[in-house]
Amino acid sequence: MKCSALVAVAANGVIGKDGLLPWHFPDDLRRFRQLTEGNLVLMGRKTYQSLPLASRPLPNRITLLASRQGISGLPPEVLLWHDLESKLSQLLKQEEHRIKDDLPHETSSIQRKRKAVAKAPEKEKTLWIVGGSEIFKLTQPWWDSIELTRIPLRPAGDTYFDATLLKGFQLKCSQEGPDNLVFESYQRSTTRPTSG
Ligand SMILES: NC(=O)c1ccc[n+]([C@@H]2O[C@H](COP(=O)([O-])OP(=O)(O)OC[C@H]3O[C@@H](n4cnc5c(N)ncnc54)[C@H](OP(=O)(O)O)[C@@H]3O)[C@@H](O)[C@H]2O)c1
Repeated sequence: MKCSALVAVAANGVIGKDGLLPWHFPDDLRRFRQLTEGNLVLMGRKTYQSLPLASRPLPNRITLLASRQGISGLPPEVLLWHDLESKLSQLLKQEEHRIKDDLPHETSSIQRKRKAVAKAPEKEKTLWIVGGSEIFKLTQPWWDSIELTRIPLRPAGDTYFDATLLKGFQLKCSQEGPDNLVFESYQRSTTRPTSG
């Protein structure tokens, strides 16, 4: 399974403020949905709790939620990961169906959703690492590629994307989007240190 980070970064490195995104760009949200649908998304507990209730969990995606303390009342299509590093290395080394065995209380509606996700793309599935800052830092050794949106603002913020995480990655494509957004695609230039 491919592992890719997906992040939107302002010109001053800000990615979040008060638990939320300090901007609203519908085209970037659309791109986020198009890239991640039918795949797995891994996010930290703070990012999960920042999602609007109506889109929590993200539809048509399996959510892997990193939290050491845990959260109660999670919907059954969300897998809680207490130990991010060991779960991640297990997942990226094993067949995808094995993680489905971790899912308790699987209702028939959830089974249908999971089947749809499993069937959706013919191509290889991607594990999308979608933040926030803590989770980006912890998972960088597993990334094969990065999809990064440059946000043309310098907003006040309290959460940053560490630019050194781009070390070891090569910019392959940069595309201008609406509202002066720039979509950049990076590929790891060497084998990821966690493979094998
Ligand atoms: N611009 C973007 O692309 C983007 C993307 C995502 C998020 N954001 C923004 O970023 C902010 C949130 O980021 P954040 O860095 O504060 O938090 P975060 O990375 O979303 O979540 C941090 C939490 O992850 C859990 N965690 C950390 N290490 C772990 C480990 N080794 N094993 C298991 N769980 C672990 C802990 O949860 P517990 O405390 O529950 O133990 C920790 O509090 C928000 O403002 C959000 O809007 C921006």
